[in-house]
Amino acid sequence: MAATAPVKKVPIHLQSSHNRLLIKNGKVVNADGMADADLYIEEGVIKQLGRNLIIPGGTRTIDAAGLLLLPGGIDPHTHLDVEFMGTKSADDFYQGTKAAVAGGTTMIIDFVLPAKEESLIDAYYEWRRRADEKVCCDYGLHVAVTWWSSSVKKEMEELVEKHGVNSFKSFLAYKGSYQLSDTELYHVFNACKELGALPMVHAENGDIIAENTKKLLNAGITGPEGHEMSRPEEVEAEATNRACVIANQVGSPLYVVHVMSKSAGNVVAAKRDEKLSNGEECVIFGETLAASVGTHSHGTGYSCWSHAAAHVLSPPLRPDPTTPEYLMRLLANDGLQLTGSDNCTFTAEQKAVGKENFTKIPNGVNGVEDRMSVVWEKGVETGIIDPPRFVAITSTNAAKIFNIYPKKGVLAVGSDADIVLWNPRKTRTISAKTHHHKTDYNIFEGLTCHGVPDYVIVGGRVCVDEGELKAVQGLGNFVPTPTFSPTCYPAFKPEENGIDKNAIIHEEIAALRLNNTSSKP
Ligand code: URP
Ligand code: ZN
Ligand code: ZN
Ligand code: ZN
Repeated sequence: MAATAPVKKVPIHLQSSHNRLLIKNGKVVNADGMADADLYIEEGVIKQLGRNLIIPGGTRTIDAAGLLLLPGGIDPHTHLDVEFMGTKSADDFYQGTKAAVAGGTTMIIDFVLPAKEESLIDAYYEWRRRADEKVCCDYGLHVAVTWWSSSVKKEMEELVEKHGVNSFKSFLAYKGSYQLSDTELYHVFNACKELGALPMVHAENGDIIAENTKKLLNAGITGPEGHEMSRPEEVEAEATNRACVIANQVGSPLYVVHVMSKSAGNVVAAKRDEKLSNGEECVIFGETLAASVGTHSHGTGYSCWSHAAAHVLSPPLRPDPTTPEYLMRLLANDGLQLTGSDNCTFTAEQKAVGKENFTKIPNGVNGVEDRMSVVWEKGVETGIIDPPRFVAITSTNAAKIFNIYPKKGVLAVGSDADIVLWNPRKTRTISAKTHHHKTDYNIFEGLTCHGVPDYVIVGGRVCVDEGELKAVQGLGNFVPTPTFSPTCYPAFKPEENGIDKNAIIHEEIAALRLNNTSSKP
């Protein structure tokens, strides 16, 4: 049944009396550098930044001496409240965004996942319905193109023009369900190019995985170790290369989600250095995960079935123990550009459905809460990246790619007051006993991370206060993502197309904001 149109709501920060905030004595970290500055917030927006600010009386002051002020994390990859592999992910939009805020993430971008033959617009409305009343922070939506036809193309147009979607994910894996053929991928990428949207890919060769799986099951390998064995690095690297080739032939940009292996990371890095036949730059982005820089597969070395199953996601964690550091180094040298979580949690009971057959284990892990701390620990604490690069790969690059910069992804006058007061000296040890997910395991269990968010400010409201979580259900809003991101379409000249691009973007956002998106046709 078709879902109904989302309800318009009054932003909670406008209903709140706690709408003025001064943060003093901190060090502001942006992707392009760091500076000592005070920061003043009113009505959810950064109004002043600098020294000797003139502030109205009655303003709450937070002393941030010794703390870093970071733009709130943007997690470009979550799956909350999603039906997947015959079950539903454990974290819904309340639980998932509450966990996000606890860890210093103030915006997520989730994936609408239409069933085959389902209308993309109906699925979009269903996601809005699931999210709008529950989100504790702002959110955006990508839409997955899980089947292809002329009606899908029309719906992509409508999603872009009327509903604030600018990114579409296709699958080269999941044969028999979501997988598209190369011809279909070509058409999806082409449609994205015409619309100024960004194609995203899950890059693994689904045909090869299906054959390997048959062979493994026939040989009696039914345990979780079979998951990685059926889809080794090469299978990810081939699909990554193929997706890049298709994008280059179409002339579209491309975003490769969850790069999990050294081989696939190398493909993205190499393709970024190539030029198209017309001399233009290849516009390719690679995202890796908190999971892949924070842990690795132990192959057959897990202590028990449920631990191994808890680590099953696709593409899989790699048994090569040098993978996490290698991927972090690619993030450092801009071979890769972002970190997501791919948060798609299932309880031990849900995972146990695959007890007799690894292909039935629901794929997915946690990460939306711990991504910031894990990336800090494995990146900044090890000296591989500096704090500005940390900001780039956890927030700014996502804001730029999805065209919501400088509203998000930077601490600047006029930007949303989504701010983390990060304590780099404090540590915390990750555990399922203390996390805010609905699941009973945590793939980072026992990892001690430097970097703790002492305060998290979401749209001007203090939602982690001296370490205490005060997340507010419904506080967040849907954030429309406009087309022709200058980061994805650097060669696009709006003037040459008779378009005042800024006017369009602002009108588009303003209209969407006012209505909290348009009504259903
Ligand atoms: O195993 C994963 N990654 N689960 C979530 C769905 C997807 O493919 O991203
Ligand atoms: Zn995927
Ligand atoms: Zn165990
Ligand atoms: Zn995913």
